[in-house]
Amino acid sequence: MKPNTIAIIGTQWGDEGKGKVVHFLSRNADYIVRYQGGNNAGHTVVFNGKEHILHLVPSGILENKKCVISNGVVIDPEALYQEVMFLRSQGIKINKENLFISEQAHIILPYHKYLDAIKEKTQRIGTTQKGIGPCYADKYARVGIRVCDYLEEDTFRSLVEKNIEEKYPLISEFISKKALLKQIFEQHKKYSKFIKQFVTNTTNLLIKVINENKKVIFESAQGTLLDVEFGSYPYVTSSHPTVGGISIGTGLPPSYISKVIGVAKAYTTRVGEGPFPTEIKSKLQDILREQGKEYGATTGRPRRCGWFDSIVVKHAIKINGIKELVLTKLDCLRNIHPLKICVAYKYKNKIYYDFPTSRKLQWLVKPIYKTFPGFSEDINSISNYQSLPKNVKNYIEAIEHFCGVKIKMISLGRDRNETIFK
Ligand code: IMP
Repeated sequence: MKPNTIAIIGTQWGDEGKGKVVHFLSRNADYIVRYQGGNNAGHTVVFNGKEHILHLVPSGILENKKCVISNGVVIDPEALYQEVMFLRSQGIKINKENLFISEQAHIILPYHKYLDAIKEKTQRIGTTQKGIGPCYADKYARVGIRVCDYLEEDTFRSLVEKNIEEKYPLISEFISKKALLKQIFEQHKKYSKFIKQFVTNTTNLLIKVINENKKVIFESAQGTLLDVEFGSYPYVTSSHPTVGGISIGTGLPPSYISKVIGVAKAYTTRVGEGPFPTEIKSKLQDILREQGKEYGATTGRPRRCGWFDSIVVKHAIKINGIKELVLTKLDCLRNIHPLKICVAYKYKNKIYYDFPTSRKLQWLVKPIYKTFPGFSEDINSISNYQSLPKNVKNYIEAIEHFCGVKIKMISLGRDRNETIFK
């Protein structure tokens, strides 16, 4: 029996609108799984006229689905507590029957956030400052603290004391050692009890429910170009938003991932530093930012905006084995004339059809564009593909042509109802 699972993957630099897509698809799902990243993510979902921004808890929680935060995620206990309390205050039910947290996930502690700030001074990645990179660095340096360690008071204390010896000299400008330890242990007292109720072996849980033919959606955070292995390194996050991240981030064999859907925004954005070949360098960037409300859901930072880049999306299609795309935020391109799609890069008379690995080339390549007439019609309330204006259909079909895969679903607005199928 083929596992009843779908992976929802971002094909650009994150913020493609995955939250809405997962929320839409979660109506027919049983479990929604976050498998990487942490509260650096911000999934904005408009539900019942209200805007919800989720950072750690999968957006399926809004549909009262069972949600899993698996081993590949890094968890800031304070951020998790605040998010759960906020969602509960909005009338959303969260308890040990619908939220499951892996005992193997790594914990973000206050020193990770200070280390993030210190690193940023010299490295200038433009991180979210949530301690994500330093927490994953500890995991791979084999000094990380997992949820199961966090729940054993003596193990936790001895690991923290050891880590502080090594890390405190690097962060002494922010806080005294005594105050830092006090902060860590006070938080631990409060949040370890809170987290405990949700903790389980999520690998066993997922294997069991998939074998029972339950429908499971894997919700990636960030996007392929932010993958630490396949993104625009070093301007990336520290985890694997790509489909390969699911296996390691959940403990499920690759054969348990049946379908991969890529989510692409109808233009491109990125937050933070790093190369961005199709970034618009005129006032049009500000217009697009306003039309698309392109401000970071986690940090509020203005997102950099640019034209749709088929080289970037093709890279994601290849790495993730994407067979179909969801196109989002098409409505935000209204009144922009003409529209452009990048179909290749050029540097010193050489044409590139693949996203370059060289960091120098990533900065230096110039996009080659095809130009398309824009549209001025209000398309939000259109409910079938055939009724879309001709120029909109041409633009969609051009994206399909240059990316080489079909677009199956198109999002024309923030509300879940503003979605059509092709
Ligand atoms: P970090 O994940 O906080 O370490 O940040 C590394 C890079 O990933 C920075 O450029 C961030 O702006 C970017 N980033 C992290 N999370 C997101 C996200 O959810 N959407 C878009 N960019 C993100």
